[in-house]
Amino acid sequence: MKKVSTALYIATVYFILSFFWILFSDKAILLFTQNNEVLTYIQTIKGWLFISITSIFLYFLISKEFKKEQDLKEYFKKTLDNLASPIIVFNEDGEVLSINKTFEKLTGYKHKEIDTIDKWLKIAYGQDASNVKNIIDSLYTIDSITDDGIYHIKTKSGKTLIWNFYSAPFGIRNNKRTIISNAIDITDVKEKEKIMMQQSKMAAMGEVLENIAHQWRQPLSNISTVATGIDLKSELNTLEEKEISQSMKVINDTVQYLSKTIDDFRSFFKPSKEKTNFTVEESFEKSLQVIGSKFTNENIEFINEIENINILNDNNALIQVFINLFNNSKDAFIEKNLSTRLIFIKTDIKKDKLIIEIKDNAGGIDENIINKVFEPYFTTKSKSLGTGIGLYMSEEIVVKHMEGSIEVENVEFDYNKEKQKGTKFTISLPLNN
Ligand SMILES: Nc1ncnc2c1ncn2[C@@H]1O[C@H](COP(=O)(O)OP(=O)(O)OP(=O)(O)O)[C@@H](O)[C@H]1O
Ligand SMILES: [Mg+2]
Repeated sequence: MKKVSTALYIATVYFILSFFWILFSDKAILLFTQNNEVLTYIQTIKGWLFISITSIFLYFLISKEFKKEQDLKEYFKKTLDNLASPIIVFNEDGEVLSINKTFEKLTGYKHKEIDTIDKWLKIAYGQDASNVKNIIDSLYTIDSITDDGIYHIKTKSGKTLIWNFYSAPFGIRNNKRTIISNAIDITDVKEKEKIMMQQSKMAAMGEVLENIAHQWRQPLSNISTVATGIDLKSELNTLEEKEISQSMKVINDTVQYLSKTIDDFRSFFKPSKEKTNFTVEESFEKSLQVIGSKFTNENIEFINEIENINILNDNNALIQVFINLFNNSKDAFIEKNLSTRLIFIKTDIKKDKLIIEIKDNAGGIDENIINKVFEPYFTTKSKSLGTGIGLYMSEEIVVKHMEGSIEVENVEFDYNKEKQKGTKFTISLPLNN
């Protein structure tokens, strides 16, 4: 289009110049002479003069246009060279027409080393070359920019780069369909992604370990208490046969729990863990077994208002949560040195949800920090007493693993005609899943 208008422009200028020359030159000559011989002579010179002037004129006009085109080509090349992404132009005959500086710089190859698509494919893709060739062959029919996908490119120095190629039609040049492809170098991004994946895996592993350690503290001390008890009684010769088997049962049960905790937390991050049918009462009884005699020794009374409700979920996960909540209440009773120590557990059904309420009369949580208690490592206890992951872990288990929710609030209530103050946790679990 541009070329046509340029040609028309030059032809029009030529036409106008010739038109006026012919119109006025003869009239001008007639003003000077009427002699035929002289006139013929002058006409010849005039003809020569016309040809010379218009030739010079055309030369300037055309060379100016050529230069414009040349400038444009250079400008285009410079622009491509200065772009940060590698660019390659090739045609349907498999000729690589040009590559930009960034392409040369990143791959280490000069244009003449990869002046055909075949050479480039062999050098950069190795065994994948034929697959990539099929994709390149399909590009000649595209009519807009396409995402060709991600490729691993071998550079001259042997490094592997990861490039995402985009291609667009670049018109018909010398009767051949031409394609321009540019790539975005995502080598660094991919590398960072890999590192981040690694890091998040490590963090998840750390979390699993920490959860196991957290849940192991109580049962381990349980075993130790029982074992020490037997040891002491045997030294004093007061050990009865019955006690041995009872204690062994406690130790054995607790060890079973320890081993189950490992399995649980290993599969904790896999969402497909199997769910079973169980009642809340079962989970509650089991959690009492695990926390052992400590609660009776500390005069903590459980007030059980659990209804007989069956749910389909992960029983052991619920046990973990109960243990964490009961331990927190126990810690609060001991810290505040309270004499009446009550933990209430109650169930209810609201819409299609099972609601489990666990509350104590240990005084509650300071309103300034109550919205922080589910954060990891948030604790008000000394290092030896708390790590601050009990509630964080419980929330993770309930939300991510059991598809429920858990909330906390301070409550005041009457019990045995006495005003009580404490913390209430409300766990809500799906009933029909
Ligand atoms: N029943 C409760 N009564 C009073 N304060 C509580 C109660 N439950 C939790 N808290 C407060 O919430 C904080 C966070 O509890 P969380 O169980 O997450 O950590 P922790 O008990 O301090 O340590 P960890 O459970 O890791 O041993 C506790 O430090 C405590 O201040
Ligand atoms: Mg805790």
